[in-house]
Amino acid sequence: MITEIAKAAQIIGRSENLAVFTGAGISAESGIPVFRGEGGLWEQYNPEILEINYFHSHPLVSWNAIKKLFYDFLKGAKPNAAHFALAELETIGIATTIITQNIDNFHQLAGSSNVIEFHGTTKNLICTKCHRMVAATETILSDLPPKCEHCHSLLKPDFIFFGEGIPQKAFTESSEAAANCDVMLVIGTSGEVMPASLIPIEAKRHGATIIEINPDKNVFASGKNDIFICAKAGEALLQIIELIKTEKS
Ligand code: OAD
Repeated sequence: MITEIAKAAQIIGRSENLAVFTGAGISAESGIPVFRGEGGLWEQYNPEILEINYFHSHPLVSWNAIKKLFYDFLKGAKPNAAHFALAELETIGIATTIITQNIDNFHQLAGSSNVIEFHGTTKNLICTKCHRMVAATETILSDLPPKCEHCHSLLKPDFIFFGEGIPQKAFTESSEAAANCDVMLVIGTSGEVMPASLIPIEAKRHGATIIEINPDKNVFASGKNDIFICAKAGEALLQIIELIKTEKS
């Protein structure tokens, strides 16, 4: 009997326009904690630290947690086998658009060139008043909460907080990618955050085949996916890429 991994490899290998939708789970094998479930960040922290109104009223409390969780934690971490396997799909000639909810820059570091950061990035900070953007350097993060050097107002990471809208460009580009792909690979997301969780539904509505990889079989795309691979992202993608390369050689 053909396995789900072999079926996925066949479909992805023949895809003309692949979209990949990733969540925190793809970075779990890099040692980055996920948000929800056992060992997730929201077990230890109150999600209010990422609520925009709370951030404005308690900037130091929010920033202390944000620095620890999203800057100090990321410092020593690197992309893992899953990120590299997705980048390799591009190099073997499969047109790939990655839509990520992650803010860790790992897809780009692994070599993927077409990445839509749906929730923004940790790389930059933006002034809450004059909207100037600066790089999130160690120096600027050494004195919390960081302030804009032009107008001295509060700086915020350039990723979205609860209560903020999705950046328009990312929203438009991901809607287009979902509408135009023939296959969507959904990896490591609980699908609990809107509007991101609508992306695979949009792809399905336009006729794409949905392949999902997640070690938790109770996740959101169940019932919406065509193929479900109950495994860790790195383990599954390494096998998939090897099978695709064998078929193409
Ligand atoms: P969650 O923490 O909600 O879900 C992580 C998913 O990854 C779960 O379904 C896990 O089962 C799965 N997972 C764990 N280890 C895995 C592995 N090795 N391989 C594959 N999957 C694995 O994270 P997201 O769905 O990404 O938003 O959360 C969405 C948004 O919620 C985040 O972007 C963030 C958060 O609040 C903002 O900060 C705006």
